[in-house]
Order: sequence, then structure tokens, then C-alpha cells
Amino acid sequence: MCPYSKTSNRGGTTTNILVTGGAGYIGTHTCIALIEAGHTVVVADNLSNSKRESIETIKRITNQEIPFYEVDISDRQAVERIFETNHIDGVIHFAGLKAVGESVEKPATYYENNLISTLVLVNSCLKYGINRFVFSSSATVYGENEVPFVETMERYPTTNPYGETKAMCERILTDIAKANPLFSVSLLRYFNPVGAHESGLIGEVPTGIPNNLMPYLTQVAKGKIDDLSIFGNDYPTIDGTGVRDYIHVMDLAEGHVAALTYLKKGAHIYNLGTGQGTSVLQLVKAFEQANGVTISYKMVPRRSGDIACCYADVDKARRELQWIAKRDVITMCKDAWRFEQNNLHQEV
Ligand code: NAD
Ligand code: UFG
Repeated sequence: MCPYSKTSNRGGTTTNILVTGGAGYIGTHTCIALIEAGHTVVVADNLSNSKRESIETIKRITNQEIPFYEVDISDRQAVERIFETNHIDGVIHFAGLKAVGESVEKPATYYENNLISTLVLVNSCLKYGINRFVFSSSATVYGENEVPFVETMERYPTTNPYGETKAMCERILTDIAKANPLFSVSLLRYFNPVGAHESGLIGEVPTGIPNNLMPYLTQVAKGKIDDLSIFGNDYPTIDGTGVRDYIHVMDLAEGHVAALTYLKKGAHIYNLGTGQGTSVLQLVKAFEQANGVTISYKMVPRRSGDIACCYADVDKARRELQWIAKRDVITMCKDAWRFEQNNLHQEV
């Protein structure tokens, strides 16, 4: 038995969940959380941004068999074959392309991949009578809004095609829930997922130079990159640097288990964040303190498309999903660094 396995059925009903994109960063952690909560999982992923080894690692951590299908979710026949050969009680749909900058360069690829896969998957669910659906959305759909972001807010246009695909999928799934009274869908708006599983065996593996702050910090700490460029120190924030709501990926994963448990008819939006804002400089300091390392950084102009401040109102998730994020920023930094130190596949 792997020392990190905490598999137990906590008295809940065991369900078999199809996890699309389950070989990716959030998907792998969610598979572990689902199994720990007593569910079983089937994973489908085309491995466009992940590796088959991650499935082996989940098996090692959880000591469970995981049926894995290397398929594109836009392939209707392949998706229907999964539903024919497995009894599936619900679906968590992570599969999607997620790089904001790349989506500006390749909008057609992003709209095709993210929209068609969602349409194929949800239509197959309807055909096979699967009425439990959880969708990965993003805080990016709020655009530039007043903080804290609350689910009832009017959405502002996002600044990139990636964000538009999330807003469009939310709309599609909401319309489908209206038309199908048995259908339940949670639209989960993630804030900034960071960190890694406590085992240090799985975590985020960015391709090439990371876009996001935490993987950039870990690579600077490891000496793969000389210094961090901080994008802007003239924002109206506590120290002039951008503020975000960083959430530990295992808290986020547990949020998915809660969302499945408390699914209710119709379409329901939930913010998954901590409700706490942390500036870039505060995260740098926390990382140094947590890990006893020094991060060299320089101030550079703002990155186009960035907003000053983004954090969640988490009251709805707390009330309706009985879920709150438990891990603090120091734990996020420690776990991200442990994974970076262990990770053999992460070469820039
Ligand atoms: P990821 O790239 O690590 O995982 C996504 C997985 O989906 C990958 O394994 C990829 O191979 C797979 N995939 C992509 N298109 C596919 C397709 N057509 N068919 C089958 N598999 C496909 O990304 P992640 O960070 O784990 O994100 C998961 C989801 O959460 C995505 O939908 C993303 O947009 C959303 N999200 C992520 C963040 C974040 O900061 N990581 C924030 C908000 C929302
Ligand atoms: N930052 C730097 N230097 C870097 C990278 C980032 O200063 O090298 C700053 C950014 O300017 C921002 C903060 O660190 O102020 C966080 O930036 P990230 O790139 O880590 O995250 P974003 O908030 O820009 O975007 C993330 C995901 C999006 C998602 C969004 C939702 O990448 O997919 O959160 O809130 F849509």
C-alpha cells in the first residue's frame, strides 16, 4: 500500500465518474480526491498536454485500477464507446486547452477544441441518460469586475478566446439544463490553482517556459530560470503588484467531490477559491519563507490582458457545497516546491 493512499469510503454513495482531461494537472488531483472519497473513476484524455505516466502515478498513490482511454473528447464514437463499456454515473469535464496567450494566436483551435468536445460530451451524456455533469470554468469569465467576484455578477467580456470558450460552454450547459429537467450541472469557476499533491509525485508540468507565476517561481528557485519578471508594480493594490486568489490544487480537487455530492437539478455556478487575495510580491516572500530559498526578481511593465485584482466570494460554495479551501499559501508553496524537486519529466 502506498503511504499516501487514504482511500476510504466515508459513508457516501460510491459512483463511477468519467473524468475527461483526467491525465492533466487538476484532473489527476481530482481523481485522487474522488477515490479517497470512495468513488471510482474512468479517465479519458488525448494526452495533448499530459502524459500517460500520470495515470500510473495516480494508481500508485491510490492503489486503485483506473480504466484509461486515450481519446479525443470531440470524437463522438469514441466517447459513446466509453459509455457503452462502462457504467458511468457522472462526468467531470476538465478536457480543454487552457493557455490564454496561445488562444489569442490560435483562436480557431481553441474554439474548436473546447466547444466541440463539450458539445459532443454533453450530447452523449443526454443520449446515455447521464444527468450529472461538472464543468471546469474559470474566474476569467468575470473579466475586469469589482472584487470579490460573486456568482451573481454580470459578466464582462473576457480579453481572450480561451475565456470566451469558457463563457460559451457555461451558456451551452445552462441552456441544456433548462431544456432537460433531469440534468444537473455545476459550473465551477476556478481562481488560481497552484501547488501539488503532498506526495510530491504529481503536480503541474508546464510545457516550455511557464506562463503562470507559481511554476515560474519553482523554476527560478531550482535555477532553471535566472529571475522572475514581475509584471507591473503600479497597480492599485497593497504593494503595486497584481493580486490573485491562489487555491491549493487538492482543495480544488476536493471542491469537485463536493460539487458532485451536492449536484442539484439545473445549472449552478460556484466560485472555487479561498476568498483571500495575495499579491505577486507577497507570494514571492511566502515562497522564500516556506522553502528557505531566495527568489531573484525584477520589475517589468504590465503584461497585456492582466487585471489588477481577482479574488472570490466563496460564500455560495461554503453554504451549498459545504466546502471551503483549507490549505494556506505556505502549504501551497511547500507542495509546489516539493514536486519541482522530485519531478523528473519537467525539462524546459
Ligand atoms: P491541463 O492541460 O493540465 O489538463 C487538461 C487535460 O485535457 C490535458 O491532459 C489534455 O491532454 C486534455 N485535453 C485537452 N483537450 C482534449 C480533448 N479534446 N480531448 C481529450 N483530452 C483533451 O489543464 P488543467 O490546469 O488541469 O485544467 C483543467 C481544466 O480546468 C481546463 O478545462 C482548464 O481550462 C480549466 N481551468 C484551469 C485553470 C488553471 O489555472 N490551471 C484555471 C481555470 C480553469
Ligand atoms: N505574474 C508575474 N510574472 C510571471 C507570471 C505571472 O508577475 O512570470 C503575475 C501576473 O501578472 C499576475 C499574477 O502573477 O498578476 C498571476 O498570474 P498567472 O499567470 O499565474 O495567473 P493569471 O491570474 O494571469 O491567470 C490564471 C490562469 C488563467 C485563468 C485565470 C483565472 O492562467 O487560465 O487564472 O483567474 F483564466
